[in-house]
Amino acid sequence: MKQKTAWFCTSCGNKQAKWAGQCPVCQEWNTLQEEVEVVERSKAPGIKKLTQPVRLDEIVNRPLERAKTCFSEFDKVLGGGVVPGSLILVGGDPGIGKSTLSLQVAHSLAKKDSAVLYISGEESLEQIALRAKRLHVEASHLLFSNATEVTEIARWVKECSPSLLIIDSIQILFHSDIPSSPGSVTQVRECTSYLMNLAKATGIATIIIGHVTKSGEIAGPRVLEHLVDTVLYFEGEKQQNLRLLRSMKNRFGPTDEIAVFQMGELGLSEITNPSKLFIEDRAKGTTGSVITPMIEGTRPILIEAQALVTDTFYPTPSRRSAGLDPNRLALLLAVCEKRARFKLHQSDVFVSVTGGLKITEPAADLGFLLAIVSSFANKVFDHDTIVIGEVGLGGEVRAVSRIEARLKEAIQMGFTRCILPAKNHKSAEPFRKSLQFHPVSWVDEAIDAVL
Ligand code: TYD
Ligand code: MG
Repeated sequence: MKQKTAWFCTSCGNKQAKWAGQCPVCQEWNTLQEEVEVVERSKAPGIKKLTQPVRLDEIVNRPLERAKTCFSEFDKVLGGGVVPGSLILVGGDPGIGKSTLSLQVAHSLAKKDSAVLYISGEESLEQIALRAKRLHVEASHLLFSNATEVTEIARWVKECSPSLLIIDSIQILFHSDIPSSPGSVTQVRECTSYLMNLAKATGIATIIIGHVTKSGEIAGPRVLEHLVDTVLYFEGEKQQNLRLLRSMKNRFGPTDEIAVFQMGELGLSEITNPSKLFIEDRAKGTTGSVITPMIEGTRPILIEAQALVTDTFYPTPSRRSAGLDPNRLALLLAVCEKRARFKLHQSDVFVSVTGGLKITEPAADLGFLLAIVSSFANKVFDHDTIVIGEVGLGGEVRAVSRIEARLKEAIQMGFTRCILPAKNHKSAEPFRKSLQFHPVSWVDEAIDAVL
């Protein structure tokens, strides 16, 4: 094998000939590392070459036999279960619960006729055994190994022929033919493509765990996103026990789907009704709280938009947001000033979303705006009303997508009134019996409804 070095970005995998302080592709600082470049690719096991192109009607589509795990929510995120031969990347911060999730999934899939092979490079077998005991995992068809060299892992896979292979984590694996150290971009990439070929050749589903890395020495999971079939990210505040599993890419199902878990004494348990969890703690009768339905993937979730507006004692007022994009908050405040003539430039404004969710949908705009108004004017917002609508720069309230799903969720959770964009009113008609509608075209109309 010929040896040549290049500089690789450990955040996005970008390769270039020279060092730079900032990666020109992902704009991260101090992430470029010099590595030996693999000129000749290592030979992968048993790839069949398709020599002749085939017509679409000649391709036989076998139905996917997805394996169901103990988590119906996890299955839903994957598109209905684990597809044989698929390569799934589970990324997330260290300590968020990736190993716990994988172990619980492994446990539920380990059966008499199909073992699960768990490669634990990060933790010793004793540590894994302790964790397994804590989680009451006792399956005798769950096999553990400390192997970290991929060709050795391939040998064990052939020997045990498991139905599922779990790699914990990819940053610890290496291929003995490649000179760079484990965790480098080249190793991480080559090991992943080796595992991809192994999964496709054997039909064994593989879960790869990848830590999100803060410093630039170890390649992060983003480097291999394009190599795998499915990319799942495990998120959440470590202080809270709520965890979100989000699919960013899925060749076998929908993307942007989320599953909500709770970390407890006995590991993770799934939450099938997240709306209930997100709004159950709200204090009725306080100002600055509005419930708005969001769409996460294919599911509607009710969230509580909270705002606190107080007089400022400094020349520059403070604007803080948790879960809402600060630019979006600035826009909403500007609209409030212009359309409703609120003197918000003399106020500190704080907004947050309960449960540590990140709001990316503009459909929550009107909800946040009314929460801000409610706190500013010291008026309690009706706790049986939900608010839906995107706010434009001119103060217009714009229609949102999937209004039916949002309304259904609100009715299910017992809400009886709804402020919604006038343009959505017609599609909301079928729900007239359960919800009283208050259609609005401009933010002023919505604000009037609060004050
Ligand atoms: P872990 O799965 O080891 O995280 P990762 O593999 O993503 O680094 O989970 C680590 C945290 O989870 C640890 O702080 C302890 C906590 N935990 C529980 O709260 N309950 C449990 O049953 C288990 C196994 C872990
Ligand atoms: Mg771990």
